[in-house]
Amino acid sequence: MRVLVTGGAGYIGSHTIMELLKQQHEVIVLDSLETGYIEALVELGIVNRLVVGSTQDAQLLDRVFREYKPEAVIHFAAYKSVAESIENPNRYFQNNVFGTTTLLDTMVRHGVKNLVFSSTCAIFGTPSYLPVQEHNNNTNPENPYGESKLIVEQILRWYDRAYGLKSVCLRYFNVAGAAEGARIGEDWTKAQNLIPVVLKAALGVIDSVQVFGSDYPTHDGTCIRDYIHVVDLAQAHILSMEYLLTTNTATCYNLGTGKGSSVMDVIQTVRNITGENFKVIMSPRRPGDPAAIWADSFKAVQELGWKTRYNLEDMIRSAYQWHKSHPNGWRQSDSEVLIPMG
Ligand code: WQD
Repeated sequence: MRVLVTGGAGYIGSHTIMELLKQQHEVIVLDSLETGYIEALVELGIVNRLVVGSTQDAQLLDRVFREYKPEAVIHFAAYKSVAESIENPNRYFQNNVFGTTTLLDTMVRHGVKNLVFSSTCAIFGTPSYLPVQEHNNNTNPENPYGESKLIVEQILRWYDRAYGLKSVCLRYFNVAGAAEGARIGEDWTKAQNLIPVVLKAALGVIDSVQVFGSDYPTHDGTCIRDYIHVVDLAQAHILSMEYLLTTNTATCYNLGTGKGSSVMDVIQTVRNITGENFKVIMSPRRPGDPAAIWADSFKAVQELGWKTRYNLEDMIRSAYQWHKSHPNGWRQSDSEVLIPMG
């Protein structure tokens, strides 16, 4: 099938493209390269399928749909830094919401009715109970990033009713890890998430890890999260696309392993795998952090036949391999990167 992947030069996008190519799908990539890396597409051998640009550019989108005639869209393109969204909410609503409605209007104009949407567990904020199910939990985002994703989920319900555009919204929990063989992975240059930060300490890139809060009501006082392997997450996108095409039914799934790990669990696992005893500094809580959140992914297992194959050790081991072989992320050097015209 011909699939347009927006944000395909990003971390989850490039891993999803890797799985799409394995399953013989035809891929077109739209990416502004603001946060994505063309090197990932070079590694995947599809840089010739890249159109450089933003989902806010209606004319460019029209050209892409006219020229490539995608049959489905997997939409990753968005900003995703919680901290940045709090400082600059306007950028987040402009790019994540307006960029998406521009894409949706183009899909409607070109009669493309299938969308897999990259959403987030951040739409729940602090969950009212655990594990978090798709519908019986309050959606109460605590930052503009999560809010922007919730707004899009609501917009998608109206585009379904008015235009028959069907979507599957995937609420990611904490994604980590890298493809086997470390061919592609997460660029940690700007990463502030826990696992890349702890691996930076293990590899001596930084000299310590700050633990944001050790007085939470959890088994060891540190926050609990549901870490999900990026390859398991990628598979869920393909299963969701196939589900849409066979059932023509819009829906949403929470994607996690259903297992919670604390910050100290992660740190101990990194110590065990790397053998490095890096410094850990207990620091004050980070505003907006829920004490604990983990998924109930039974709906995705039951309806998609989705199975997670990797655990926390696999995520940390694969990420460790990737970062060891790519200490400067995708930019091995500051060499000029040739960017094809969009
Ligand atoms: C995890 C825990 C921190 C760094 C992320 C994304 C969000 C969504 C869910 C996709 C927290 C603690 C972290 C550090 C620490 N994903 N921590 N020291 O905030 O749960 O949310 O995954 O959409 O978009 O942001 O992830 O990795 O930042 O934090 O103690 O140096 O680790 O306080 O408890 P988070 P995170």
